[in-house]
Amino acid sequence: MKAPPRHLDISPMTLEDIPDVLRIEAQCFTTPWPRNAFQNELTDNKLAHYFVGRIDDQPVAYGGLWVILEDAHITTVAVAPEHQRKHFGEQMLVHLIEEAIARGARWITLEVRESNIAAQNLYKKYGFTVVSTRRGYYSDNDENALVMWAGNLKGEIYQNRLKALKEGLC
Ligand SMILES: CC(C)(COP(=O)(O)OP(=O)(O)OC[C@H]1O[C@@H](n2cnc3c(N)ncnc32)[C@H](O)[C@@H]1OP(=O)(O)O)[C@@H](O)C(=O)NCCC(=O)NCCS
Repeated sequence: MKAPPRHLDISPMTLEDIPDVLRIEAQCFTTPWPRNAFQNELTDNKLAHYFVGRIDDQPVAYGGLWVILEDAHITTVAVAPEHQRKHFGEQMLVHLIEEAIARGARWITLEVRESNIAAQNLYKKYGFTVVSTRRGYYSDNDENALVMWAGNLKGEIYQNRLKALKEGLC
């Protein structure tokens, strides 16, 4: 039988986490966010909520979102390459969705590269569907962004889906 995924220890991101986050960011993205982007999100943006996931006290994943009344926007999710495919991305996504719900969101959206099938599969598993395409959204290679969306987060159908998926994770 397959072993259950290891529990990712998730806590709010702090300024002290930024060096580790930047290291993972550089490994995961072709156009990594600079230090001040994370700094501003943590210190200036009241709508922003960022988290770090640790295994054995080592940061291996992070994610963030904005919550504006009933709308949430996932801004980033990443797992260090050597820790991918261990359900840590999934645990981080569940945490972000639950944070959004706890802060009153009913709808949640994000953008993802058209070529990023791994991330799209993760989001689809959690009920996100593609609602539109932003042509040439990514300036490094002019790649399109798919806009994905999920909701109603507070509805019975979504709550049941989330509960069933979470049970599979524990
Ligand atoms: C996308 C990302 C966060 C997924 O995290 P992860 O921890 O590797 O993924 P998980 O092990 O939690 O997988 C959860 C689900 O995602 C999907 N998935 C993850 N990696 C996949 C892959 N390489 N190919 C296909 N599907 C994949 C599957 O549906 C999987 O569920 P399953 O195991 O039941 O099949 C990770 O690949 C990553 O950090 N990529 C680089 C950064 C990035 O692209 N971030 C998203 C920006 S929008």
